[in-house]
Order: sequence, then C-alpha cells, then structure tokens
Amino acid sequence: MRKIRLLSILMSLTILVMLAACSGNGNTTTSTSSTGTTTSSSTTTSSSTTTSTSTNTGPTYAQMAVSGQAVYAGQCASCHGAQGQGGVGPAVMGQSHNLRNYTNAANLLNKIATTMPWSSPGTLTQQQYWDVLAYLLVQDGFVTSQTTFDANNLSQVPLA
Ligand code: HEC
Repeated sequence: MRKIRLLSILMSLTILVMLAACSGNGNTTTSTSSTGTTTSSSTTTSSSTTTSTSTNTGPTYAQMAVSGQAVYAGQCASCHGAQGQGGVGPAVMGQSHNLRNYTNAANLLNKIATTMPWSSPGTLTQQQYWDVLAYLLVQDGFVTSQTTFDANNLSQVPLA
C-alpha cells in the first residue's frame, strides 16, 4: 500500500514538472536566426561596385559579366548546366532558352533575384544578382558587351 501511494505521488510530481515545462515553452519567443543574409562562398570582386544612378558612369555589361560568370559557375551551373544548356532547371543560355518570355531585363532580374538559386532563393547579394544577370544578357546576345549597365534602367533593356 505505501509503495503504491509513493508511486502516485511521484507520478503527479512528474506531471506537474512536465506541465510547468510546457507552459514555459509556450512563452518563449521564436528565434530570429536566419535573416537571409547568408554570404555566398564566392567572393565578389571589386570590379563593379557602383550602384549606378542612371548616368553613363557605370560599368559595362562585359565588365560585370566577368564576376557574373563566377557567380553563375558557383551558384547556377549545377542546375542549369555549365553552358546554360539546362539540367535540373531549364536552359538559360544557348539555343533553347526561353528568356524572351520575360520581355525585359528588369523582369528577368526579378525572377532570378526572388526565386534563384532554387534551393535557397534570395541568398545572393544584390551585386551578385546584377552580375549574373549581366552575364546571361551578354551570353544570350540581348546586350552588346560595351553597353553601360544601369540598374535603374533595366526595364528599358528588351529581351528581343
Ligand atoms: C537547385 C537548382 C537550381 C539552382 C542552383 C538555380 N536554379 Fe534557376 N531554376 C531551377 C529550376 C528547377 C527552374 C524552373 C522553375 C522555376 O522557374 O522556378 C529554374 C528557373 C530559372 C530561370 C527561369 C527560366 C525560364 O525559362 O523561365 C532562370 C532565369 C534561372 N532559373 C536562373 C538561375 C540563376 C541565374 C541561378 C544562379 C544564381 C539559378 N537559376 C540557380 C533550378 C535552379
């Protein structure tokens, strides 16, 4: 008889402890760890750091495409192919890409910057998105390499 009473006391104690632990947990604030600022492994070169303000002083597409090529190789090629021919993701360079559907560079940038890399969207820096955009536009012949890049004017760059 004593044994059983002791047991039930022990049990109700553990239940109390569990309840306390639970209510404590309910009040804890959610952690604010991932802020989407993960820095990517590839270091951005200092070649094109201007946030051009619609003057003609910005870098050319060709200059940006240099670092853009590195971004592509490190962050995109695994799914879109080394030559952009497609793989897990659709072709983004070469004969069979459908980037014309985005009609202008601003729409394409928006697509890339908000949904790519597919596995971790939005994790590249603004500069890296600009650079890789420039790389695709040069490779696909949408701009001439000597065109000046202007971040404020991308909707005026047709994908035709
Ligand atoms: C983990 C695989 C993966 C990675 C890495 C990745 N993509 Fe994608 N990408 C996809 C898939 C899958 C799609 C098709 C689904 C969609 O459009 O969201 C896609 C679609 C696209 C499209 C639209 C193509 C079209 O025909 O509409 C573009 C442009 C693009 N990716 C560019 C990029 C760039 C630039 C990078 C590197 C910064 C990148 N992707 C990294 C898998 C990937």
